Amino acid sequence: MKVLSFLLLFFAGVSLTAETKSESFVLKDNCPPSFELTKQGICRLVTQYQFYTSVQGRGLGGTRTALPPHRDGFTPEQIDLGRYLFFDPVLSKDGTISCASCHQPDKGFSDARDRSIGITGKKVARSAPTLWNVAFLDKFFWDARAATLEQQAQGPLFDAMEMGNTPEQLLATLRNNPDYQVMFAQAYPKASDIELGMVYRALAAFQTSLISLNSRYDRYAHGYHQALSQREIAGLNVFRSFVARCAECHQPPLFTNNQIAVIGTPEPEGRPFDMGAENTYHVSQLKGGFKVPTLRNIVKSAPYMHSGRYNKLIDTVKFYNDGRGNAVPEDQELLLHWHIAEPNLTDEEMQLIVEFLATLTDESLTPQIPKHVPSGLAPIDQAYQQSINNKQITTNDNNKATEQHGD
Ligand code: HEC
Ligand code: HEC
Repeated sequence: MKVLSFLLLFFAGVSLTAETKSESFVLKDNCPPSFELTKQGICRLVTQYQFYTSVQGRGLGGTRTALPPHRDGFTPEQIDLGRYLFFDPVLSKDGTISCASCHQPDKGFSDARDRSIGITGKKVARSAPTLWNVAFLDKFFWDARAATLEQQAQGPLFDAMEMGNTPEQLLATLRNNPDYQVMFAQAYPKASDIELGMVYRALAAFQTSLISLNSRYDRYAHGYHQALSQREIAGLNVFRSFVARCAECHQPPLFTNNQIAVIGTPEPEGRPFDMGAENTYHVSQLKGGFKVPTLRNIVKSAPYMHSGRYNKLIDTVKFYNDGRGNAVPEDQELLLHWHIAEPNLTDEEMQLIVEFLATLTDESLTPQIPKHVPSGLAPIDQAYQQSINNKQITTNDNNKATEQHGD
């Protein structure tokens, strides 16, 4: 009798652990918030901006402007699989860093470094851009060298300085993981085995769910005047004035016009000049040209510019105010964009712009960081994990990215 009840307990225990384990890797079958599940079983973005038809509603830089085309239409399972992949360090050669190591949810999906650090422990060439609203972009990287998110992902995965993996090793790792086998089958029911294209597509699906369009600025844009203070409204008006001209390039509602501009930001001391988009397009007019970055969640993603040269927003505004070409090295000839001028803003006006930029923060759709990932490695790297834990212990911070550990 004793033996029997022991055995029963034993089996109950086994089935319990097996159940919790497999349960934690069942992919979600519902869309992330702000997406609607269609009859075809795919997620479509729903935002109030879709009610605006003009790209120039209320003038250039106006508030009720339409969004450019975007990517959506992935299944809930593909989006959720992408979430696990994004946070799993098994994607790197030695299992030490994940995508999220350099694109951390609580740091505006950037990493708070001037230039990111990959598996070699050395700094890479540029600063990590935010991933908020990448669904609306049509070119990727500071120099626009990738045309799709799928193409982009192969950059960090196989770059020796970043994740250092090889396509063969990545594929073998995932195919040999029983949890990933099940999850890929859920996300791609028609496929017979895991393929690299499915990895890139799932990462793209997850990233296109990172939508930030519900900031205080947006509520103001949709007609709720009280959402911004008088000073913030004054800041918006300086921002979009023809004197400052910020909105010509950082065009609402995305706060980028998806173009490349040569503005001549300085490199950090001792760094060589960065040719930027000239290397992509092979035209000299684009020498030193970079993609106009979005300013959404900008207070979260310091340091700023492709080089991470500036730590504070006020320093970025001062750069524009110091006049056309003020930081261009003497031995370089750049064709600066015609909207780069001499705005002669007062200190007060620059301060108002900074206060306005802080209204572009909306992290309400921050995804959950998985508590476990199929590799069994710590999701994201240990240093980041540690920083989150410390934060939870030392502060009562209600940051969603660090709080939600629902799975
Ligand atoms: C070692 C740090 C690091 C890792 C790991 C990393 N990234 Fe990045 N990411 C960067 C940097 C730096 C850039 C900008 C590089 C450039 O423009 O030359 C970037 C650029 C991007 C962009 C382009 C955004 C834009 O606005 O153009 C996307 C998208 C992106 N990364 C997604 C990912 C995904 C997905 C992964 C995992 C497969 C990943 N990153 C892993 C540092 C990293
Ligand atoms: C001619 C187009 C253009 C105009 C006008 C312009 N910007 Fe920019 N902005 C850019 C480009 C391009 C970059 C990236 C440059 C780089 O990395 O070297 C940038 C970068 C920035 C960044 C850093 C973003 C990040 O994620 O690192 C901030 C902040 C910024 N601009 C604010 C402003 C403000 C404020 C104004 C008005 C005073 C302004 N911009 C006017 C094109 C423009």
